[in-house]
Amino acid sequence: MSRSSVNPLRPLSVLKHSRPISSKILPIPSTSRNPTSPFVRSSFIGLSARSRGLHTTSVRSHGEITRPAPGTGIKVHFKDAKGNNVKTIEGNEGDDLLSLAHEYDVDLEGACEGSVACSTCHVVVDPEHYDMLPEPDDEENDMLDLAFGLEDTSRLGCQVKLTKELDGMVATLPSATRNMYVDGAKARTH
Ligand code: FES
Repeated sequence: MSRSSVNPLRPLSVLKHSRPISSKILPIPSTSRNPTSPFVRSSFIGLSARSRGLHTTSVRSHGEITRPAPGTGIKVHFKDAKGNNVKTIEGNEGDDLLSLAHEYDVDLEGACEGSVACSTCHVVVDPEHYDMLPEPDDEENDMLDLAFGLEDTSRLGCQVKLTKELDGMVATLPSATRNMYVDGAKARTH
């Protein structure tokens, strides 16, 4: 149909060969995370063979957190792979290790921001406190299988929530992390 034969007063949807405009609109996956982050983009481009729903674990911002008074919080000692203390912090019940690490500038990546779709928040928990944690679910175990330097007491930092009995926990940062989505098989050293 030539451009000159189109009746400008006729609705587009009834023109010959035309389709309703809505049929051309592709669905956009919804996410509460930043949709422009490299991780989220890559995960929707089909790099994940096992399609998984994103969790809604919140990453709290500085402004929303009330810090415990010194000496009253739940202590967590972050250590490096050589056993050196990186930082000792105090959190509240319900805080997760990844959020605390970010708040206190501990080098724990957390590429998927707590969506259980990477292993870059991998920490090794001391055995005493590891036994106090709820069992990891299947999704966490799947991601742990991809973690660099996996140990018997490995957990994803974003899934470890503080309780009072975890006071004094040691979370050791592995010597490297592997981000399958962004780096492929390359390990990133801390
Ligand atoms: S931040 Fe990706 S699984 Fe914890």
